[in-house]
Amino acid sequence: MLGIINHLNDLFESHQHHNEAEIDSVIKELSDYAIYHFQTEKKYFDLYGYEKADEHLKIHDQYRQKIDEWRTRYDADKDPKIFFEISEFLQNWWTWHINNTDRAYVPFLKTKGL
Ligand SMILES: [Fe+2]
Repeated sequence: MLGIINHLNDLFESHQHHNEAEIDSVIKELSDYAIYHFQTEKKYFDLYGYEKADEHLKIHDQYRQKIDEWRTRYDADKDPKIFFEISEFLQNWWTWHINNTDRAYVPFLKTKGL
């Protein structure tokens, strides 16, 4: 995820944040990361019966919806201002998810020996 945030910063600094191919690749990175991160978590939740799994997975669904929404919208209008939305979203919601929602299961998994 840090890689994606850095990628966004680089695009902005090099004035490439309106470049269609670059925006496409950012959206793709976001969904690839989500697939990896979400699958890994779900695997451990299922394996160890994490009691807050439903709540957590619902938040993942919201993230997926957001990415799908951006994908569809950007395909339709190619409006580069989506860059700023992505950037803001990552800084707020996603950072919050990793620091709070994800951190919540750490003590639980530790009791399972992970
Ligand atoms: Fe998560």
